[in-house]
Amino acid sequence: PVLALAALVLGYVLGSIPFGILITRFAGTTDIRTIGSGNIGATNVLRTGRKDLAALTLLGDALKGTVAVLIARWLWGADAALVAGLGAFLGHLLPVWLKFKGGKGVATFLGIALGLYWPLLLVFAATWLGMAFLFRYSSLAALTAAITTPIAAFLLGGPKMGLLMAVLAVLLWIKHHQNISRLLAGTETKIGAKG
Ligand code: G3P
Repeated sequence: PVLALAALVLGYVLGSIPFGILITRFAGTTDIRTIGSGNIGATNVLRTGRKDLAALTLLGDALKGTVAVLIARWLWGADAALVAGLGAFLGHLLPVWLKFKGGKGVATFLGIALGLYWPLLLVFAATWLGMAFLFRYSSLAALTAAITTPIAAFLLGGPKMGLLMAVLAVLLWIKHHQNISRLLAGTETKIGAKG
């Protein structure tokens, strides 16, 4: 239990680093929380018109999940890696530094999957890119990738990894409730539009 708590805290601290806010603040753009969806993630950073900053946000928010998983596995083993993944996801969704107003978890979900079992990256990417190509909605692409990735995690990584990714997917879907309403209403912003 002490190790599990340590893994959870390690993950949370890393996961709660809001790369979207830090990177856009450093670059001096308008506060991303006041534009588009108001979210702190890469999709909303893209609405500043800065693809480079969006790519860096995606990278940072993903790799913090990967790093959390890898450090925990190295220090404490495979089960601790799963707990650190959960911690990192919770840190991104509910960062204490932002009064718990965090992101929607897409990049971090991807980074955690990559750290746990790297081929999951391919499953996520294929789903996301395919759906984005077909429909041009970042949210819809992510919501779909959050279905295929846990299934692949279960089949390729076993029940524990599948369960963790399924729990993360449920949280990701909950965080996308406004996107889901907009998708159903036909008012969701497409990729590339400023929103
Ligand atoms: O799935 C991408 C999600 O983060 C959408 O972001 O800014 O369109 O709500 P946003």
